[in-house]
Amino acid sequence: MTDDTPVVALGALEAQALEAIASAEDRDALEHVRVDFLGRSEGRISAVLRGLGQLPPEDRPKVGQEANRVKGVVAAALEARSSELAGGSEAPAVDLTLPARRRWKGGLHPITQAVNDIWHIFRDLGFTRARGPEADTEWYNFEALNTPLDHPAADEQDTLYLVDSVLLRSHTSPVQMRTMEKHDPPIRIIAPGWVYRRDTYDATHTPAFMQIEGLVIDEDVTFVDFKATLGEFARRYWGPDTQVRFRPSFFPFTEPSAEVDVKRVITRPDGTRVETDWLEIMGAGMVDPNVIENAGYDAEKYTGWAFGMGPARIAMLKHGVDDLRTFFDNDVRFLAQFAS
Ligand code: PHE
Repeated sequence: MTDDTPVVALGALEAQALEAIASAEDRDALEHVRVDFLGRSEGRISAVLRGLGQLPPEDRPKVGQEANRVKGVVAAALEARSSELAGGSEAPAVDLTLPARRRWKGGLHPITQAVNDIWHIFRDLGFTRARGPEADTEWYNFEALNTPLDHPAADEQDTLYLVDSVLLRSHTSPVQMRTMEKHDPPIRIIAPGWVYRRDTYDATHTPAFMQIEGLVIDEDVTFVDFKATLGEFARRYWGPDTQVRFRPSFFPFTEPSAEVDVKRVITRPDGTRVETDWLEIMGAGMVDPNVIENAGYDAEKYTGWAFGMGPARIAMLKHGVDDLRTFFDNDVRFLAQFAS
C-alpha cells in the first residue's frame, strides 16, 4: 500500500472522537458525539467502513482492520463516559452519614398493654389468671349469677344469642362461676377476655370489647379487703396520689354493689400538680350469697368480692384517646404511637 491516507484519517478521527467524548458534559451531548462518529448513516467512522469497497483491493484489509479498531476504541470510550455521567465514579448516591431509619418492629395493641399492666399488678398481689368460654349458656351468664332471665340484661335487645339458651357472654362474670365450680376456696383470680353486646358501634361503644373480671372468695373476706386491694391497685397503676371512691350501685350478683371511680393527680410539664375529675373504672361489689350457694360453697363460711373493669376505657383515659373506634381501625400510623 502506497497511500496511507485513510489510515491517517482514521487516526485523526480517533483523536477527535476521544476528545469530544471527554468534553461531553451530559448524556445528550454524548449521544450527539456517538451519532457524529458511529451513527449508521452519518457517522464519520461508519463512512470509512462503508467506503472500503471503493479502495484498491490490496488496501482494504489494513484500512478495514484499523477502522474496526478505532470503532471499538470509540465505542468503549462512549460507554465509559456514559456511566461516568450516570454517577458511576462520582460520590455514591446513598448518603452513608445519614442516621438510620428506625425500623417498625410491631408492638402490642394499647388495649393488650392495658390488660397486661393491670394483670401484672394483680399478679403481684397474689392473683392467678383464669379464663372461660366466649360462647356460654344462659345459666352461666345470667341465672347462676342471680340474674333471672326476665331481667332486662337478659333481654335479646342487649344480648347476642347464638341458639336457644346459648349466647355470646355479655360480661366476664360467668368466669366467676366456672372457676368456683372447678376450685375450692380460697380463690383470687383475674379473668380478662372478650365480651359481646348488641351495642351500636360509636365513639364509646363497640359490640365486642374487653373486660377484666376479678374475684376473691375466702373466709372472713370483707368490704375492707375489697377497698384496700382496689386502692392499692389504683395507686400502683395511676400513681401514689390516686384516690378511689365507691358509689352505691346495683348488680344482681353482688350485695352491696358499687361503682368505683378514681381521681388522679397529674404533674404538668411546668411542675404544677392538678387533680383530674372522678373517672369511673369498674362495677363491683361483695359477692351475693346466692351466687356463693350456686357454686356449692357454704355461704355462711365464705364471703368474697368481685369486679368487672373495661381496659379499653382505661387505655383511652391513659392515652387521651377520645374515640374508641380508633383502637379497632388497625391504622398502623395510630397504633405505632403506643409501641414501646
Ligand atoms: N359484670 C358487670 C358488668 O359487666 C360488672 C361487675 C362484675 C359488677 C363483677 C360486679 C361484680 O357490668
